[in-house]
Amino acid sequence: MDEFEKIYSHLLEGNKNWVKNTLNEDPGFFQNLAKGQNPPVLWIGCADSRVPANQITGTNPGEIFVHRNIANMVVHTDMNMLSVLDYAVNVLEVKHVIVCGHYGCGGILAAMGNQQFGLIDNWLRHIKDVYQIYRKELESIPDKMKRADRLVELNVIEQVTDLCETSIIQNSWRKRQQPHVHGWVYDVGNGVIKDMNVSVRDNSKMLDIFKLGDEAGKYGL
Ligand code: CO
Repeated sequence: MDEFEKIYSHLLEGNKNWVKNTLNEDPGFFQNLAKGQNPPVLWIGCADSRVPANQITGTNPGEIFVHRNIANMVVHTDMNMLSVLDYAVNVLEVKHVIVCGHYGCGGILAAMGNQQFGLIDNWLRHIKDVYQIYRKELESIPDKMKRADRLVELNVIEQVTDLCETSIIQNSWRKRQQPHVHGWVYDVGNGVIKDMNVSVRDNSKMLDIFKLGDEAGKYGL
């Protein structure tokens, strides 16, 4: 078998071993999971291979509902993100939503430069919008890597804000006072998660323009 094939077969071998080890520890593990899922947490993270939600939080399958994209963005016209969010919030009724960025994020680094990468430039453009909001703070940081680290943090904070501004989150707050929305940054260099302490549980600090009142149908609009 050549190296090329090995990469592929390694995954199926890994699966066999994982099933065996898991059953050794808990013979009912898969039978229980097959009954259904009731995860209390939605994770919106980066697609980066080094940031797997379950592993870095020491959780198991069934505990976290996961959406990942490049640079953990909450783009309010993204049907994929909105569908995951709507299902997680309104059907699974998750208690917490976590936006998790990470230092050394390639998407953030690319967005800070001017090189073209193709289609992805249109996605990274949303990060440039975040840069623009915090341009003064960012450009006062002389070291490029430190500036990128700060943009990672600020991007997470902005995505938490964007998430709270969705009708899905605002309506859920009104109906059931949940979920709580949090922003984290993971350090791929040491494995530690930093809580940005920007947790939100209501719209009291939201700019008025983003606050959604009762649904328009009630007023015959
Ligand atoms: Co990333």
